[in-house]
This record gives sequence, C-alpha cells and structure tokens, in this order.
Amino acid sequence: MTTRPEALPTPALKRARQLAMYERASKTLPGGTDSNFRAWGTDTIYVDRGKGGLVWDIDGNEYIDLRLGYGPVILGHGDDRVDDYVNERMRRGVSFSLTSEDEVLVGELVKELNPWLGQVRMTVSGTEATMHAMRIARAYTGRTKIVKFEGQYHGVHDYALISVLPNDVSELGDMDNPVGLAWGRGIPQAVADTVIPARYNALDVLRRIFERDGRDIAGVIIEPVLGNAQGILPRPGFHEAIRALTREFGALLIFDEVKTGFRFARGGAAEFFGITPDLATYAKAMGNGYPAAAFGGTTEVMSVLPDKVSHGGTYAGNRVAAAAAVKTLTIIKETDALETVKATGLRVQTGLREVLERRGIAHVFTGHPTMFGIMFTEQVPTEYRDWANSDHDLYDAVATGMHARGAMPEPDSREPWFFCEAHAQGDIADRVVTIFEDALDAALDQRAGGAPDQLPRDAERHHLAREAEMLGDGQG
Ligand SMILES: Cc1ncc(COP(=O)(O)O)c(C=O)c1O
Repeated sequence: MTTRPEALPTPALKRARQLAMYERASKTLPGGTDSNFRAWGTDTIYVDRGKGGLVWDIDGNEYIDLRLGYGPVILGHGDDRVDDYVNERMRRGVSFSLTSEDEVLVGELVKELNPWLGQVRMTVSGTEATMHAMRIARAYTGRTKIVKFEGQYHGVHDYALISVLPNDVSELGDMDNPVGLAWGRGIPQAVADTVIPARYNALDVLRRIFERDGRDIAGVIIEPVLGNAQGILPRPGFHEAIRALTREFGALLIFDEVKTGFRFARGGAAEFFGITPDLATYAKAMGNGYPAAAFGGTTEVMSVLPDKVSHGGTYAGNRVAAAAAVKTLTIIKETDALETVKATGLRVQTGLREVLERRGIAHVFTGHPTMFGIMFTEQVPTEYRDWANSDHDLYDAVATGMHARGAMPEPDSREPWFFCEAHAQGDIADRVVTIFEDALDAALDQRAGGAPDQLPRDAERHHLAREAEMLGDGQG
C-alpha cells in the first residue's frame, strides 16, 4: 500500500532574495531576464541549482521541476553520465571552427535513431534549426511561401513568429480564412506575407490554401503535436493527409521535432505517428539541456548543402553541445530511459485522473505521457482556438498553488508538463499528484467562496500588458 506523500505544509514561498535579484537584474536585463518567456514580473524565479527532477531557487524553495527548461532535460538535471563526458571532452578546447569526431558521432546517432534521415547538420538552438529548414525548403523547391499552423511555436526568427500565441483568438481571423498575425513589432510585412497560417487539424482549410497558393508553397512546417497548446494531438489521418497533400503539390513537409524528438520515441514523432517527412528539426532532448540542436532531411533535399544554400555558425557543433548530444543520444539509444519517462508520466496521469474524477471535474489529457497537458474541458481539443474555451483560469490557479506547494509546472496553461528519467526516483510522481490535489482543492474552495479565481499572477498581468502593447501597435 502506498502512503499519500505530504505536500509542503505551508503554501508560501520565500521570495526575499528573488525580489532583490529582480530589482537588480531589471536594471540590466529587460524584464530582469534573458528571455521574454521567463519574465514573470515580481514572480520571476531566479534559480540556484537543479539535480535530477528537482530544482531550487535562490531563496531555497525546492520544487519538483515539471518545466525542465521547456523540455530539454530528458534525463534529469546534472546527469552525471552526461556531465562527466562533457567535462572530459571540453578540456580539449571548445571552439575551433573545425570539425570534431563528436559532431560526426552526433550526426550518426541522430540518423540511427531516425532512419529516414540522410544528412544532418548541428545548430545551437531550435530557432536556428527551423530557420535553416525553412530556407532549405525554399531553396530546394525554388518557391517562397511556408505554411505554418496557428498556435505553433518554431522559435524567435521572423518567419516563425506568425500566428503564435494570442490570448484573444479572435485576432487570428475567421475559421475558414485565418490571418497571419505577427507576434510583436519588428517583423517586416514582406516577411510575414511569405508565411501562410493554417489551423491545426483543419484539413479543409489546408487544402483550400494549397489550391489557392500551391505553386508558391515551398513547405509546411508543423509541430507534430500542438506543443504550445498543451500538446494537442492530431486527428487520426491528419498527418497522413498533410503528407499526401504536400506530395501532390510538390511541397516539402518539415516536422519540427524540437519538443517531440528523442522524447515521444527514439525516432521522435515521425516514428510515433509513422510519418516520413522531408526535413526535421531537433533540439531540446538531444542534449539534456546543453545547447545542442540540429536539422536534417533526406539526402536528396539536403543536397542543396553545402554549395547552394548558406548555413554556418561559429558555435554550430561546438564541443560542449556535441559531447552532450553524443552522451544523451547514446543513453536514449541504449537504455530504457524513454520507457521510464513514459511510465512516470502515465503514473502521474493515473493519479490526476482519480483526483479529478472523484471531484467530477471534466478534463482532457493532451499530448504524450512524457509531455502532457491537462485541459479543464469536456470536449477533446483539436486546435489552438479550443484552448480559449477551456477553463484555463482554473488551471492557472492550480498551477500557482502547485508552485507554492513544491512543484513547478509552467504557470501558463498552454505549456505542457514535462517529465524526465529522474522523476521516477523516490516518491516524486506521487508527490506531484498530492500537490496537484491540494492545489486544486484550494482553487476550488476559492471559487466556491465566491471570490474571483486567484488574481492573475504578476506574471500573467505582465504578459497581458506586454502582449496588448505589442499587438495594439501593429507591426512594422
Ligand atoms: C517546437 C519548437 N520549435 C522551435 C523552438 C525554438 O527552440 P529554441 O528555444 O532552442 O530556439 C521551440 C522552443 O520551445 C519549440 O518548442
């Protein structure tokens, strides 16, 4: 019989050091951080360290980490197997702009795990990987336009920042004719005009787009699941239909596997869904948190490199990233790490389901057990616009309550929970369920008491204000 592990007794976080750091950091870093996605106003978290499935902030608060750096930490923080190998390799020097055997090994491992690939190149980030994959699709086909799906995130280059994450989905245009909405200023209209937004799981819209613009479309880029709306899954046959449509119109299919690669399966979502794309991008799980990324494709499509298309990077394939990828991918290949991550995710889902069913709360699990979301809704979501119809205020209140009790999912309800191999240790999985249950009850009590759901966190207020400001002023 298992005993119910205790959540932290006092749902109050120590914040004094972090508030002081926020004041200090804000004088130098916009929003006090190096990424808009971490700028949570006075709730910004400043990390001290992580080990395994846990993370500690500089005030000493301990959390079970369900963000895992937005997904890369597939084995666990500070994994000794990876870190020891990286440390040993980096003593030989890290940056030469010359090619090391580790880079060749990374390419070989990526190919071995994704046997449809012919050639691979390393980059430093997922942003670079998707940027290069789009360029290759354009170069190979001699066409200009790229189709992308609403709510999907492919990084922060100009071509990726179209129709990403508006809070007000009405800005995305009508259902039959979605409009391209640039996220923030500074994206030239001429660039935005080369990206055609489609709706995930809406094949009729996609077919109309191809019938209208097919001769100009170089490729379709897709996160195989809607990773930035909790991992919404494709309807049966959706990927197969896109594959057929792209072939029919001579366009390329780019699987953005930055979140799903080396996580859903050793061969990522391509293996999981049984689809062979023409190009794919990888990052996150391939380096267990080190900045390793890659793009690759069939030999035929990648043949535009090195002579016809520009690709390079001082740090592409740098020693640290390459070593981390060699070790992480070897572990993924040779051990049952991914099966462990999946089993842990399933265990947590089972616990959460029991908690929610006992209380009669309608919910849907989205995504894959290694990376899933919980939407409070009766209807299975099929696209980004459905997120808006879920009870995300309740989710936000629960997520905030979980932080206070010692587990850290992303406070934004669009981001899935991530699991790593180290989460299988001790009673972490059961603690996640307990913490969720306590946070849910607190949120429901608050609601029943007639009080509004927890006031939006500072982070959310900050985010809404920034988004309103950016979108209100239009682009250019
Ligand atoms: C699907 C997807 N593509 C691309 C990116 C961009 O990767 P990076 O943050 O390494 O630039 C992300 C990041 O979250 C992502 O989730």
